[in-house]
Amino acid sequence: MLQRTDVFAAMRGDVQRVSDRVVEAARVPYPQISTILEEIVRSGGKRLRPMLVLLAGRAWTYEESFDTLVNAAAGVELLHTASLVHDDAVDHSAFRRGKPTLNSQVDTAAVILVGDYLFAQSAILAASTNNPRVVSVFSNSLGHICDGQLMEMMDASNPQQTERQYLARIYGKTASLFGCAAETGAIIGNAPEDAISALRGYGDDLGLAFQIMDDVLDLTGGSEQLGKPAGHDLLQSTITLPVIYYLEMVRPGSAEWRAVQAIVDRSRTDDAFVANVLNEIRASGAVERALARADEYIEQAKNRLTIVPDTETRELLSELADQAVRRSS
Ligand code: IPE
Ligand code: IPE
Ligand code: MG
Ligand code: MG
Repeated sequence: MLQRTDVFAAMRGDVQRVSDRVVEAARVPYPQISTILEEIVRSGGKRLRPMLVLLAGRAWTYEESFDTLVNAAAGVELLHTASLVHDDAVDHSAFRRGKPTLNSQVDTAAVILVGDYLFAQSAILAASTNNPRVVSVFSNSLGHICDGQLMEMMDASNPQQTERQYLARIYGKTASLFGCAAETGAIIGNAPEDAISALRGYGDDLGLAFQIMDDVLDLTGGSEQLGKPAGHDLLQSTITLPVIYYLEMVRPGSAEWRAVQAIVDRSRTDDAFVANVLNEIRASGAVERALARADEYIEQAKNRLTIVPDTETRELLSELADQAVRRSS
């Protein structure tokens, strides 16, 4: 039986190949930007999406398709990196992966252009697969990410938003890329059609659980452990699933409900007030309810894996799903 961290160990060598491609493709010739960018790209990240691409391709024709899978995985990781560069500017975040963000050091115009440059590099890698279906999955995912981020900008602070609206938003901004990664791997690995759809579903479910967990960690984790600012979402007026559950529990219009509203509309931003509200949310049971929701998506994701013929790959994919909700960063 595989042990808990085996998926990272098993994939380390192959993922390193992807990381090398990513660093190469993210190079820019301007010293004011290149050092910061290289730090962000090199300082890692968990490389979950490349792992998904590789593992989804592994059960079928891995050896023959390996170079193409590496390029596609690098493309997916660059798409993710580009979206983070823009996201940190949108969220006014000062650090990421334990390092200062680009937006904390150069002006917004440069951040927009660097993000766009990375998007272009990811598109070049996707096109290098010579597979129009892969390019189409990529383009759709980029559209969904922008749509999800826009939805967040337009609606995330609405205290009346529903779980359904939240799920549509996180599908766009996060799950669509996990789905894209799994689908792309399966397409390049020449999986049969029913397995391609099952893996797409697995990636989508995993991505939803992953973002729910990210939103829980924002409330419960420490900044150092996360490598990015904690307790940040509410301060940025973003209402996430645990907060939606909390607002449901305390009922619209109550003093607790108005306290959340006051943070979101920025009429109260003092540390003690915010800390108190965050503590109330943490103690309310809303976090546990959100975690249970993430677990349901992970179970659903794992149930889709019966279609994967190779036992080891199936176990690694299952392990990867568990890691998404058992993580602390
Ligand atoms: C961060 O993703 C953005 C979200 C979708 C929550 P990751 O947590 O996968 O970021 P890295 O790549 O490991 O830094
Ligand atoms: C994910 O949402 C953003 C993207 C998918 C680009 P968050 O805003 O929660 O991600 P973090 O917490 O900054 O990593
Ligand atoms: Mg953010
Ligand atoms: Mg977050």
